[in-house]
Parts: sequence; C-alpha cells; structure tokens
Amino acid sequence: MHKPTLFGPFRQLITMNNLPLKGPVSDNSLEIIENCGILVHDGKIKEIDSFEILKRKAQTDESEIHFFEGDFTAMPGMIDAHTHICFAGSRATDYALRLSGKSYLEIAAIGGGIWSTVTKTRAVSEDELYLFTKQRALRMFYDGITTAEVKSGYALDVEGELKMLRVINKVNEEADIDLVATCLAAHMVPKDFSGTSTEYLNYLINNLLPEIIEKRLSKRIDIFIEKGTFTPSESLSYLQKASDIGFNLAVHADQFTCGGSEIACKVKAVSADHLEASTEREIQMLAKSDVIPVCLPGVSMGLGMSYAPARKLLDAGASLAIASDWNPGSAPMGDLLMQASVFGAYEHLTIAETLAAITVRASAALRLSNRGVLKVGYIADFIIFATDDYRDILYHQGRLKPVEVVKRGVCIRV
Ligand code: NIG
Ligand code: FE
Repeated sequence: MHKPTLFGPFRQLITMNNLPLKGPVSDNSLEIIENCGILVHDGKIKEIDSFEILKRKAQTDESEIHFFEGDFTAMPGMIDAHTHICFAGSRATDYALRLSGKSYLEIAAIGGGIWSTVTKTRAVSEDELYLFTKQRALRMFYDGITTAEVKSGYALDVEGELKMLRVINKVNEEADIDLVATCLAAHMVPKDFSGTSTEYLNYLINNLLPEIIEKRLSKRIDIFIEKGTFTPSESLSYLQKASDIGFNLAVHADQFTCGGSEIACKVKAVSADHLEASTEREIQMLAKSDVIPVCLPGVSMGLGMSYAPARKLLDAGASLAIASDWNPGSAPMGDLLMQASVFGAYEHLTIAETLAAITVRASAALRLSNRGVLKVGYIADFIIFATDDYRDILYHQGRLKPVEVVKRGVCIRV
C-alpha cells in the first residue's frame, strides 16, 4: 500500500464538478480552485484544499509531496469515448483517392474502406495486433487521455472479433491508460459472409454475443446504421436483443444519412455517435432523450465534410461528448485535444462546454461514474499543463500538451 501523496500547488484546478449533464454551460459555471493541492491515496482523491494547508498536514503525517514549482494548471484526465485504435495497416490509398474526388462510400465500393482494414487486421497475429494497439493507446495516454473506449469491428467473424476484444482487454490490463472495449462486429456485412445483413446480425446474436458475455470481454455493443450497411429496422431488433442479454448500447448514427439517432433513442442507447447529417428533427429527439450525442470532429477533418451540429444540440438541451474516432479510414489523426479545440471554435462552444465534452460528459457516454471530475472519492486521474490560465489548454488548439499525467495517483512525466 502506497503512502498518501500530495500534488501541487496548482495555480488553477479545474474540477468539472457540479456541471449539468445536458444543455449549454457557461465558463462562469466552472469550479476553479486556485493555489490548491490534491491529496491522493490508493489511487483515489482523498482531499482537495489549499496547498499550504495540505502541505502542513502532509509534513505532519509524513505523506509524500510531489511539488510543482512554477505556473501549473490541472484538470481531469481526458476521456476519449469513441475510438477504433485496434487495427492493422494503413488507408493512405483511400485518403489519396478522397483527395482526388472519390467519396468515402465510393472508395468502400471499389475495395477500400472498412473491408480493406478487415483483411489486414485478420492477417496479423494477436501479438502483432496487441503491439499496434498498445502503441496507439500509449500515444493517447501521453496526450493526456487517461480513459479511452476502443471498438472491435475489423475482423467481422467470431474468432477475429474475440481476438480483437482480447487484445483491447490485454492493453487495458498492461498499459497505464484504461480502455473500455466495445463490440462493433456490426460494422458492415463482411464480404465473405454468404447471407443477408439481417442474417449476419442473427449470426452475431447467436454465435458471438453469448461468447463475449461468457468470456467477459465487453459490456457494450455498437452498430453502424447507414445506407448500404445496416438498416434502421434490422438494427433496432439487433440492439434490442443485445440489450436483453445485458449489453449497453451505442450507435454509429446519422453519419451520411439519418435514421440511426432515432433508433438510438428508441432503444435508449447510452450514446449516438457521429450526427454529421442530423437535422432539426434528430436534434430535438436527442435533446428529449437521455442519449448522449458524441460528436467526432476528426471524421469531418479526415473526410473533408461538415461538422456535426454541436451548438444546436446543446441549445436544444442535449448533452455533448466529443471523441476522436481514431481509425485508419475516416479519422486517421487521433488527436482529441486538437480536434476538440478546433471544433469548439467552429461550433462556438464555450471553453466549459468543450472541456466537459472530453471529461465529465464523456464519462457519462461510457457510463463511468468515478472519473471525469476531480472530487473526493473519484479516481485520481488528472493532467497538468504548464500555464496559470486554464483557457490556454484550448487556446493553443492542441499544441499545449500536458507536462505530466497522473493515473490513479501515479505520476508519469510525458
Ligand atoms: O466511425 N463509420 C463507420 N466506422 C468508422 C470508420 C471506420 C473506417 O473507415 O475504418 C467511423 O467513421
Ligand atoms: Fe467510429
């Protein structure tokens, strides 16, 4: 058992405490504690108070003190609630084709797209896939992401999907970052499946989902509802069956055409992700529901398409998480802070709204209630920037990186 450790002093500590889950957030509602310290014990936050007070106590109790001399600001570790970092190979060819005028769906139709990553991911060993995934996970961690969701969905058969989920769980166990695994076997109908899309979904229900539960590999299911992939009505039944056997639900919704977010609301999904094509109707529906909209600006950047209507969603009363969607096709960059900053500028999000979207509201999109906020009893995941003004974190649009990342109370200099 480690001794308690005091971290600080921080010129500003942005706790993200007491913010609403839904609707707009003004910068004035951010709790900013000045010249404070964070006392950590057994990976959790034990106390947040004036650094001087905590320092005196720490000296009496012989706790360790981790000093920050100079101007430093701390905030909760970022949470990236939607990624596909478990994959092999590159899709630079797709990228070049897109730049010369082909669309994402056209490229998929001529042998690029998700299927080309499936063939490459199937071909590598579990150990190789582990190394690729771990490398990407560590890059995220050094960028200040202390929790990330990672989807399967680049194998599309029982053995391959189980392999991907095992890899994600192994990286979770062995790297400092926490990973949350999601089964996205319903990413597309694999080209070597001889049957309809509905038959493929039934094959997953009967053969894959029970194995995932038995082996405790994931508690979350996702599906890509889109023209040419899975229809809203077959997706509805797939999601209902998955929910009946205990899975939490997420949906790739309204990316190019609408239909997905309506299903997400019907099945009470935890989140509806993408939403670039959502119209007023979908915005109102999401706002009335408890589904968390997860916007993915990295896709708009990667595909050169318009952004999801984040401002309108918030103004209508919806929640908002922002995630990187890091994947080899539509979002190859994988830099959440940069993407959230630029997206915030385009969509006129307040600093508080953008920070909430990558911390506390992102934790809600993963149903994790012990992180995303710095308060007593929560896990001690926080990141430290060399500035005395928290607004610098977004103002520099991703160029200001954390100098230290504290994961469950253990400090890793980056
Ligand atoms: O979230 N839209 C579907 N799935 C991913 C892209 C996957 C890929 O292109 O490899 C997405 O954008
Ligand atoms: Fe995605």
